[in-house]
Parts: sequence; C-alpha cells; structure tokens
Amino acid sequence: MAAAGSAVGLGNIWKFPYEVGKGGGAAFLFMYLAFCFILCFPVLVAEISIGRKTQKNAIGAFRALGFPKWSIIGRMGVASGVLILSFYNIVAGWAFGYFVEMIMGNFAISDQFGDFIGLKGINAIKVVGYSLIFMVSTTVIVSKGISGGIERAARTLMPMLVLIIVTLILYSLTLPNAMKGIEFYLVPDFTKINFEVVYTALSHAFFSLSLGMGALITYGSYVSKTDNILSSAAYITLADIGIAFIAGLMIFPFVFSQNIDPQAGAGLVFVTLPKVFATLGPLWGPAIGGLFFLLLSFAALTSTVSLLEVPVSYVVDEHKISRKKAVWLTSGFIFLVGIPSLLSQGASETFTSFISYGASDKAKDFLTLVEDVAINTILPLGGVLITIFTAYVWKTKNLTEEISFGNPNYEGSMVMKFLNFALTIICPIILSGLFVLIMLSKFVGIELF
Ligand code: TRP
Repeated sequence: MAAAGSAVGLGNIWKFPYEVGKGGGAAFLFMYLAFCFILCFPVLVAEISIGRKTQKNAIGAFRALGFPKWSIIGRMGVASGVLILSFYNIVAGWAFGYFVEMIMGNFAISDQFGDFIGLKGINAIKVVGYSLIFMVSTTVIVSKGISGGIERAARTLMPMLVLIIVTLILYSLTLPNAMKGIEFYLVPDFTKINFEVVYTALSHAFFSLSLGMGALITYGSYVSKTDNILSSAAYITLADIGIAFIAGLMIFPFVFSQNIDPQAGAGLVFVTLPKVFATLGPLWGPAIGGLFFLLLSFAALTSTVSLLEVPVSYVVDEHKISRKKAVWLTSGFIFLVGIPSLLSQGASETFTSFISYGASDKAKDFLTLVEDVAINTILPLGGVLITIFTAYVWKTKNLTEEISFGNPNYEGSMVMKFLNFALTIICPIILSGLFVLIMLSKFVGIELF
C-alpha cells in the first residue's frame, strides 16, 4: 500500500496528462504502457526483492549482498531523491495552494496560474508558504517512520481519489467536444512519435513507478518474507497505471471542451480544472474542487515521503546521527536546493532562462534542468544498472529464491521465465541503448528520428 502510495502522485495526475498532451496523445499513452509492463515491471520486482532480501536501504543493500561497489546505484539514487524532491515539493505546494483557493471559490486562479507560479505580488508569500507547509508535513511523517500512517492514508485516500476522478470523467463526457478529447487520448496517431516522445515515455514510466533510485529497495526492506512480491509489484503497477489512465480520461475532454491547447505543458491540469469547478455552482464548485486538490495533495504527500526516505536513510547510515536530526537536516537542505527551481517559473529572469543545451537554442529554466538530470538521466541509468546488477552480479537464481518466499509456485513458472529473460536480455540492451540515445538527444542535440 505504501509503495502504491509512493507511485501514485503528481506524476499521475499532473505530469502524465501534460506529457500525453505534449507527446501527441494516444501514441504517448501506448508507449508508456508498453514500457511499464516490459521494461519497468522487472526492475520493480528486482528492487523490492533486493530490499526484502537485505532489509537495508538503497546503499546498504548492495553492501549487504557483498558488492559494495554497486552501492553507486544507491548513491545516485540519493542524489536524484534530493533533486526530484526539491522541485516536486514546489509543485505539491501549488496543488495544496489550489486546495485553499478552491475552497475560497477563487476559480479565477486558472487564468492567473502564470502569476501564481511566477510569485507575482502576494503569490510569493503564498507559494513559498504552501511549499514550506508541504515540506514540514513530509518531514514530520518521515521522522515518525513511514510504515503505519502512510499505509492507512493510502488505503482510504486512494479509493476516494479514484471516485472523484470517475465522477469528473462522467461529467466531462456531457460537455461539448468531449469526444474530441477522448479521440486525442485513445486513438493513436503513430506519425506523432519521434524520439523525444519515446524517451519521455520511458523516463515518465520510471518516474511514475518511483523506480530507478532505490526508493523501492528501501520500501522492500519493510516487506515480510511471507508476502508475495509479485502480486505486490503487480498491484503497484496496476494502481499507478490505472490512476494515470483515468486522470487522462478526465483531463482531455475538459481540455478540448474549453479549447485549451493540449500542448500547454506543466500548467495543463492547473489551468483546466478550476474552469470546470467554476461551472459546478457556488456550493459544489468549492466542495468538489477543494476535495480534488486536497486528495491530490495527499497523493503527493505519500510520494514525497518516499523521496525523502532515501536520502535520510543514507544520512542516518553513513553519518551515525539520530534519525530525527537527519530528517530535519536533509529536508532543510532539500528545501534550499529547491529555491532556484521555485524562482525559475518567472520570478527570477536568471533562473527562468537559465541554460541552453541540446537541440534547441531556447534557454531552459532551472526546474527543467533539474528534471533532465534527475528524471531523464539518473532514473533510466539507475534502471539499467539495477537490471545488470540483478542478472549478472547478484544472479537470477538468487532473485528467484527471494521471490519464492511467499510465492512457492514461482520457480519454473512462465512469469519467472519472462522476468529472467527481461532482466538478462531485454532490459539491459534496450535500456542502455535508449539511455545513450537519450543523452545524445537531450544534451548534445543529436536525434535519431
Ligand atoms: N512516483 C511518484 C509520482 O508519480 C513520484 C516519486 C515518488 C518518485 N518517489 C519516487 C519518482 C522515487 C522517482 C523515484 O508522483
């Protein structure tokens, strides 16, 4: 439940729809689904198994298996945890801020999204305050230990989130042009696929499943020997894909009925939804709108705790300081790392047009740079290294032995054959090939297609 809570977050409801929008609709969706099942599911199983086998965090785990050099995967994971959380916390702050604006009936925020994230006027205090509240909440939860509360929260809040999304889907279908949105989302136009769509779908699959940085090694260390790793992994994947899928189904009819450009980017959800809530009237608008963004904030919170857990367990292990101190120091540090990203959405010219690299001459903002390093580089690289480690260093026979606890019929099964084949052949080859191409395309500007 906690790992599903980690997987389901802003990635599903904020990032996924706008990536689909930018990536040309259904073509991106299908690419993403294929990557989740074929390339990510094996990595997910491997991470959880390594965690449960060693009962250690992302760095300690590799040492405990006797391969200390491979703890580089965990170290990269710590770096990407810091980087991802530094901007994730800001977007979570926007979501939480929207909860407040919705219950106050301020639907006009939709048209002021640029001012909101650009920290214009009073927004500066608001947005900084919201992300501070968010970071403090994450810190308090992580300092109390992640198991109990997060599981309970995920168990009740996720079904509520699904319910509200499904209700909104039904409403969206009554609007003019809704079917255009459905068509954009579900009928693939494969001519829209270019290399950028392919790698964005791949990195997004890793990001959305919380993979490639050892977060699930850490979570795996809390899994008991009698639990079935495969069914947990299947549950996590289906919950994640399912919620992303329905989030898309909800957004695109709204986007098309409001004549918004699906390529609008990071503002898509934040611009589209308040306009929808505004049409629900003075009672239901604030109620449903407020509830939606509150649930989204909780979904983000079960993700931020998993992001913070990775660097914290590293600090606790390596520096022998108390968990409480480590948690506050780490989250304070991450908040500081996030400041340039916070200023990069229009508030500071320097950070908004920060650096240009790759094919386009247009300067990218600081937050995009952080995403490119953490999500588009470290996560897929971590994924490749985890598959290579599992297949060629730790060996699939040890993986099989670990999965067999809690799943006595696993050995010799079709699933085992698929996983072993994927981890030994498919994932290392495809992931490392794609990784090299991603680097060439992102940072050097060479595109294959
Ligand atoms: N999966 C989360 C989301 O979709 C984000 C997240 C949480 C994450 N923990 C992670 C991403 C670990 C990568 C690694 O919103």
